[in-house]
Amino acid sequence: MRRLLIVHGPNLNLLGERQPEIYGRATLAELDEELRQFTAKSHAEALCFQSNHEGALIDFLHEQRREACGLVINPGALTHYSYALRDAIAAINLPAVEVHLSDIHQREPFRRQSVVSEVCLEQIAGLGWDSYRRGVEVILGHLAVQELRYVLQERPEVDHAYRSCVRILKRDFPKYDWTGIYLVEGNELVLHNYIGAPTPHARIPVGQGICGAAVAEAQTIIVPDVHADARYLACSLETKSEIVVPIRGQRMYGEIDIDSHTRDAFWQNDRKILEEMAGNLARYLDLSVS
Ligand code: DQA
Repeated sequence: MRRLLIVHGPNLNLLGERQPEIYGRATLAELDEELRQFTAKSHAEALCFQSNHEGALIDFLHEQRREACGLVINPGALTHYSYALRDAIAAINLPAVEVHLSDIHQREPFRRQSVVSEVCLEQIAGLGWDSYRRGVEVILGHLAVQELRYVLQERPEVDHAYRSCVRILKRDFPKYDWTGIYLVEGNELVLHNYIGAPTPHARIPVGQGICGAAVAEAQTIIVPDVHADARYLACSLETKSEIVVPIRGQRMYGEIDIDSHTRDAFWQNDRKILEEMAGNLARYLDLSVS
């Protein structure tokens, strides 16, 4: 199983009693348990580690560097001055995300500087436990984009490429309750393949519904609450939010469509990874489809 490292720096062992007005009342053990469960839903294992010692954190990263596929790290105060930790993150060559429970940009000036952010894909701060959950999503998204890229490098059949994209997304993102690809055929979108509940919308006229609008406007559409959007073509009562990303190369090939049973399930990371995957598919199709 893919292993993700979740690393906490100095003083985070005292979560729950340490300045609860800033860091919350939950303990580190509770946070780690939540992250293990969250990560397991994406068929990955979270290995959690905390230390108050810079060297112990660095040793852990070195030891785990060949066993893991990504790192979510809250370096605590080391964020602001540890070049040794920064070098360790760069040295192990794993995709890494820097996270903070509190919003380090709204606190004392010394906290605004991070010496590790440049060697991380992203810095996520101020969202409490969600900072870590989002960190995990960033890593999984990064790996999903990479996996599709490897599949495309093998120059598979076009149908296989579409199916791989849908399968990778459904497997790695539990909040993606329905994943599918529609292809443009004349003035219609035709459902190519999907994973999730059957849909009555196997064919959608371009311009109709959220799916049709994304292709007509040639842009990603995120709908945080489908029931508040007049364009939504109702298919499942459970669907609460949707993201639709056009697959556009030399021509408009189609789109990736994702529904979630959670309201407001999508954030900028979903847009980023889905647009990267759609872009890679489009480049592949430009070469494969004459
Ligand atoms: C922290 C913010 C740091 O500035 C601080 O030193 C911590 C925790 C956070 O999670 O908000 O120890 O990283």
